[in-house]
Amino acid sequence: MSDSPTLFAVHDLHARPTTEDDGPAPADILKGLNLTVNAGEVHAIMGPNGCGKSTLASCLLASPEYEVTSGRIEFKGDDITDWPTDVRAKAGLFLGFQYPQEIAGVSVIQFLRQALSARKGIDLSVLELRLATMDWMKRLGMDSSFVDRYLNEGFSGGEKKRNEIMQMAILEPDLAVLDETDSGLDIDALRIVAKGIREVRADRPTMGVVLITHYQRLLDELAPDHVHVMVDGRIVASGGMEIAEKLEVSGYESFRP
Ligand SMILES: Nc1ncnc2c1ncn2[C@@H]1O[C@H](COP(=O)(O)OP(=O)(O)O)[C@@H](O)[C@H]1O
Ligand SMILES: [Mg+2]
Repeated sequence: MSDSPTLFAVHDLHARPTTEDDGPAPADILKGLNLTVNAGEVHAIMGPNGCGKSTLASCLLASPEYEVTSGRIEFKGDDITDWPTDVRAKAGLFLGFQYPQEIAGVSVIQFLRQALSARKGIDLSVLELRLATMDWMKRLGMDSSFVDRYLNEGFSGGEKKRNEIMQMAILEPDLAVLDETDSGLDIDALRIVAKGIREVRADRPTMGVVLITHYQRLLDELAPDHVHVMVDGRIVASGGMEIAEKLEVSGYESFRP
């Protein structure tokens, strides 16, 4: 798919935690990260604990907790490095983890409605949105009562994943960034993620996906086009599923510079 247009690119990104005091600036956590995603491609970024995966996810989200010290992020031809979260979302960047998993008194469908309004400026009625979600619920294997559940009802890991995938389906992003930070995902939850991504891509073949994960099993389920290994704030190896196989055999140690 190398002839498809560049959808998203991260160029030599350096970032560190934001501090408020005047003390010495903390060291960069991201130390020159590069990544290019073309339309329709699925990329997985794997890395050991502490390599900077969550920091990368936070920077893609424009979290105020981190500051980009150099480098840039491009999306659909625009330099979005300084864009705030909501503007990125409106432009078609879906950041699964940006949505709080628990909000008191808000149902799944109310939340979707508000997110859709922010993303596309479309104000669907709850009834219209209910119709739009019915097909997806079937495809994602969700019970039809799911959309009336409250986000604070104590979703299981699998339900949180369904919720996230449902948002991705309804919001129709051009690029979905999914950060599997949740350490408690079982194989069923991983299958939901993989199946959800496949179903949404079947509808939107040009959607790009960046999946940040430490779950090797997820790669087996999803079979991404590109696999990247991240060590100490950089991508140190890129390839196809053979990279995942090498990881399986010799771990991250063999990728350390
Ligand atoms: N806000 C922060 N302040 C100080 N150090 C941080 C902060 N966030 C992350 N770090 C450090 O940066 C490194 C990378 O963290 P993180 O991005 O969470 O890694 P990963 O998600 O790959 O496990 C770790 O050593 C972590 O302790
Ligand atoms: Mg993390």
